[in-house]
Amino acid sequence: MTTAARHEPVMLAEAVEGLNVRPGGRYVDATVGGGGHAAGILEAATTGGRLLGIDRDPQALAAARERLARYGDAVVLAQGNYSQIAALCHSHDFVPVDGVLFDLGVSSLQLDTPGRGFSFQRDEALDMRMDRASGPSAAELVNSASEHELARLIREYGEEWRSRAIARAIVARRPLATTGDLVSAVEQAVGRDRGRRIHPATLTFQALRIAVNQELSHLVVALPAACGLLAGAGARVVVIAFHSLEDRVVKEYFRRESTDCLCPPSAPVCVCGHRASLRLVTRRVRKPSEEERARNPRARSARMRIAEAIARQAA
Ligand SMILES: C[S@@+](CC[C@H](N)C(=O)[O-])C[C@H]1O[C@@H](n2cnc3c(N)ncnc32)[C@H](O)[C@@H]1O
Repeated sequence: MTTAARHEPVMLAEAVEGLNVRPGGRYVDATVGGGGHAAGILEAATTGGRLLGIDRDPQALAAARERLARYGDAVVLAQGNYSQIAALCHSHDFVPVDGVLFDLGVSSLQLDTPGRGFSFQRDEALDMRMDRASGPSAAELVNSASEHELARLIREYGEEWRSRAIARAIVARRPLATTGDLVSAVEQAVGRDRGRRIHPATLTFQALRIAVNQELSHLVVALPAACGLLAGAGARVVVIAFHSLEDRVVKEYFRRESTDCLCPPSAPVCVCGHRASLRLVTRRVRKPSEEERARNPRARSARMRIAEAIARQAA
């Protein structure tokens, strides 16, 4: 099995359908990962369709390059952060576009590759950076942040109610170097109850990964930038989120941009002048089928939202 074959794309058929992929179209996969969704999009976009695949992780791009080689010139791959999606598309002469896909979070490739530090299943360097050339690692974060800041990150990004006890245990155990050190600190704070549905360190690992990679702030920047690249009425943005924090960012952005006036209900006349630029294709989140959830545990928490550009009204 090649490395590229290891990540099973979540809600693949729904993503291709959600993007309304058509032959000859131009699409951006902003999180190309192992290239699974990208391959599905390219299959549906032949002949003449093109895809720009972006990922901040050079290892993911290498996997995508291998997986997508047979599409030749129809694929362009670019290393970068999706918060820079506009600059990346412009520099590859890839504007405007018929659709943009975001499949958020980490891939199985990243979770399963030894040495990346994303998983509590192995004891290894506590890194967690998707792009190891950028920003502090999880070890640097846990060894330098104040107890108060760690508790805040674990509470906000992990939605972990025992955040203060965990932050206290982390600070008492410093310096932490490995995922095993972090697991022991968490277990010391909250116990090792094996009967729990999830591992006691799951939410702390999620929180630190989100913080290290600044996942939410990049998404906040990327969504409007992606919508600004859309070719016109009917061009779509599809987002697959894996936890409620990122889904909330998507939901709020789509709701705001599909609403004409944002003035408070008490305002007698509109003074904001805001005009909708999107139409919600999904009013409620779409979830994977029972069959997919049973087959692929990673799909269980997936939630998809879709919006499409609408024709701009004359002012
Ligand atoms: C869930 S995986 C995508 C898997 C892919 N759809 C597939 O079918 O193989 C998410 C990918 O997004 C990348 N990623 C996460 N945040 C990013 C960001 N801010 N900019 C660019 N890529 C990012 C990760 O490195 C990871 O490879």
